[in-house]
Amino acid sequence: MDKILVMDFGGQYNMLIARRVRAQQVYAEIKPYDKISAKEIAKAGYKGIIFTGGPNSVYDEKSPRCDASVLGTGIPVLGICYGHQLMAYLSGGTIAPAQSGSEYGKTMLLSESNPLLKGVPQSSVCWMSHTDCVTSLPDGFCSVARTEKCDCAAMCCEEKKLYGVQFHPEVTHTEYGTQILRNFIFDICGCRPDWKMDDFIDASVSKYRKELDGKMVLMAISGGVDSSVAAVLLHRAIGDNLTCVFVDHGLLRKNEADYVERALGKELGVNIIRVNAQELFLERLKGVTEPEKKRKIIGESFIRAFEEVSHEIEKMDVLAQGTIYPDVIESGKGDSAVIKSHHNVGGLPENMEFESIAEPLRELFKDEVREVGERLGIPRELVWRQPFPGPGLAIRIIGEITREKIDILREADVIFREELDRIREHTPCSQYFAVLTDTRSVGVMGDSRTYGFAVVLRAVVTDDFMTAEWARLPYELLEKVSSRITNEVKGITRVVYDITSKPPATVEWE
Ligand code: XMP
Repeated sequence: MDKILVMDFGGQYNMLIARRVRAQQVYAEIKPYDKISAKEIAKAGYKGIIFTGGPNSVYDEKSPRCDASVLGTGIPVLGICYGHQLMAYLSGGTIAPAQSGSEYGKTMLLSESNPLLKGVPQSSVCWMSHTDCVTSLPDGFCSVARTEKCDCAAMCCEEKKLYGVQFHPEVTHTEYGTQILRNFIFDICGCRPDWKMDDFIDASVSKYRKELDGKMVLMAISGGVDSSVAAVLLHRAIGDNLTCVFVDHGLLRKNEADYVERALGKELGVNIIRVNAQELFLERLKGVTEPEKKRKIIGESFIRAFEEVSHEIEKMDVLAQGTIYPDVIESGKGDSAVIKSHHNVGGLPENMEFESIAEPLRELFKDEVREVGERLGIPRELVWRQPFPGPGLAIRIIGEITREKIDILREADVIFREELDRIREHTPCSQYFAVLTDTRSVGVMGDSRTYGFAVVLRAVVTDDFMTAEWARLPYELLEKVSSRITNEVKGITRVVYDITSKPPATVEWE
């Protein structure tokens, strides 16, 4: 199997690069820049190397730099953004802040003919995000594209098979980004498109079979797609050494706990223990209103609940989780900023009683996880469930969480989902749910004044949950849902629809 090494220098789009390569059916592996040497690269048989972007300037003392010998292995290298500048710097070129200022966003790219830019018209749109520029080229390199503010938007040294682009070919805003990546992977590196998701499954199964040999593994099940897929994958690797624990924290949607227990236990044949921890969670969340605090408390309470079961069954060595890639970046991996502490990454207590954590889906995006799920034979109904966050309804109840508010939200939420499910076939929508605000408003019912909560309906369309559009739901549906909720759910006087995309909002309210 041909493979590409994605050398990680700390940018936000690094996983996306690997994903774009895998979308071309070529396997891509990400390694931090300081965890692999030129010798190891040559030995591992990579057909090509991609240097990722990163937030630093190459001249910063602390900027991440690999050894220059990586450029001399004879393996083609493509540098992207910071990676492009680093390639120039390591080869003897000069980098400086662009004189006419930073370039950010969609930018007109003027290209010359070159193997990397084959099929890219003379002028096209690319996505830029930089302050520094390559200002003098290293010996043997020539510039093959420019923008208004950057004379070296792409460069190459064909003799050494070194290529660099200042822009980001991996983001969809770069019109010919896929073409450029294909040129690199297939024409320049000579890869064959022979990687399939089955290969990921086989590789993971043998990796975990080896790594977890003789270990007892405790898997946290939430009933969502990610933890279900991770559980089945690990079950395939280590069979009965895997015990799944489903913590019912009392913050699940209506009837969900029973469904999860039935579907996973029966359908997947996985060993599941259901723990009723409702009181523990409610008690710990009492009086807490700050979203990050809620998440941390929930993360910690989960671990405590797992630990308790693990003592009861027998000693468990490893904790397994269904963490996927967007959870990792949004929880602030390396230098990227913390957006939310997803409970299965940032919210873990430090004094956990497990020797290690196994996260088999850590490198995958949601759509890739679903594909793995289908290939593992998990029922479609489960694989295509809309995602549900680990902290559950706690992050959909603004302000303090009480049993009364949980009940109100459950009822409103099930009405919204029921009605939308009826027209799902014709209504593109990736996730949809209700949020209970802590705002009360005045209403009128019959001749009486009412004073109840405002509930928010949230529905988004997205591929990977990194960005999302608010769903254009039909007015008739919104009207029906609003009428049913205000009539059927005691305690709600007002229904509003959230029309904010991500960014600037996030999908969840907290
Ligand atoms: P946000 O709100 O971050 O949500 O835009 C993106 C996707 O992630 C889900 N989400 C979570 N999933 N643990 C999870 O397992 C969490 O703490 C968490 N927070 C958000 C959210 O439902 C959406 O699908």
